[in-house]
Amino acid sequence: MLTGKKIVLGVTGGIAAYKAAELVRALIRQGAQVKVIMTRNAQEFITPLTMQTLSQNQVYTDMFVAADKFDIAHIALAEYADAFVIAPATANIIGKITSGIADDLLSTTMMAQDKPTLICPAMNEKMLANPVVQENIGKLKKLGYAVMESAEGELACKTKGKGRLPDVEEIVEAIENLLTPKDLKGVKILITAGPTEEPLDPVRFITNLSSGKMGYALATAAYRRGADVTLISGPTHLPPPVENIIRVRTARDMFQAVMDHYNKAEVIIKAAAVADYCPSETAAEKIKKDKKNLSLELKNNPDIIAEIGRHKGHRVLVGFAMETQNLLANAGEKLKKKNMDLIVANNLRDEGAGFRTDTNVITIIDRGGKTESLGKMTKIEAADAILDRVQKIMKKGSGKK
Ligand code: CTP
Repeated sequence: MLTGKKIVLGVTGGIAAYKAAELVRALIRQGAQVKVIMTRNAQEFITPLTMQTLSQNQVYTDMFVAADKFDIAHIALAEYADAFVIAPATANIIGKITSGIADDLLSTTMMAQDKPTLICPAMNEKMLANPVVQENIGKLKKLGYAVMESAEGELACKTKGKGRLPDVEEIVEAIENLLTPKDLKGVKILITAGPTEEPLDPVRFITNLSSGKMGYALATAAYRRGADVTLISGPTHLPPPVENIIRVRTARDMFQAVMDHYNKAEVIIKAAAVADYCPSETAAEKIKKDKKNLSLELKNNPDIIAEIGRHKGHRVLVGFAMETQNLLANAGEKLKKKNMDLIVANNLRDEGAGFRTDTNVITIIDRGGKTESLGKMTKIEAADAILDRVQKIMKKGSGKK
């Protein structure tokens, strides 16, 4: 959440300027306060009135009109902001920032501010590929600006290619990332998420209700905090939260993927809802309905976290327990049996907990039996709470063998 964060959004003159209106709405929805600076060209594409109405704030367009009271606009905005965002950013504003040109309110404000800044280039494919623009984007990165990769797709000039403004949700996520302190910088974290599917035949499988949201929230939160995240995911409908994602289907595939990657990890968080059993045999062809009764024979899947627990060394191992009864007793037992450092217990029956929700109600238990019950919170907040506990264990010298 961006609650209370003050964002100054610079809008420059490209066709994607209309998407900046959606961005303002999304930021306000996240609890941010937004002030908008528009260049003269931006106003050819979208009106200041639109931005004023959506941001519920005065829109800044001119160097020489006083801001609130007698403040000097570019200095006042530089002081006001927790972060600056330019979306869309044209080749022109990028060129100005990297060459030290300050000839309008936006470029002058950029010169006067030293806050975290995200720049979202959007332009025609050939302009973006122009070596001068590419060199300038490289300079921006060297200067410490966060620069979003332009998206590929249909461009306004009827061609397809790279140069689109990324989706609003992706820009909001990049702003969250920009504003999150990197207190897990470089920590290698392996996370598993989602359900597994155990095929009966080419068209049917056994699975569970896991949506992957908790594991994806953990990957998102860890990435925002600077961790080097590898996500091993069962089938989900969620957009990938990190680049390093390994997609698997069955518990056995997940077992293999975890075994291939756990060695390099310092922290392993097993949020996946792994199927405990799979069909003893998978039919090569579709099973026909020619029998009156059909029994399925199931066999055990490997217990992935128990296997890691046997070889974990000083890695921090975190498991989950989803229960419908005797939450704490069952979870505590799993922690011991599988040699975890922490277990995150949640009861499917709690309001706001469970598989497909965006919230969770978790209790975190450590090896010493310390039990912390946290109230209902978003899955991202729950993820941060779990990562805070992981960090404490690492500060004390890492997990127990
Ligand atoms: N887990 C695993 N491999 C399995 C089953 C579970 O790694 N084959 C992990 C889950 O990712 C979770 C933890 O073990 O972190 C506990 O999972 P859960 O399903 O609650 O417990 P089980 O040990 O499977 O016990 P039960 O199903 O009897 O409650």
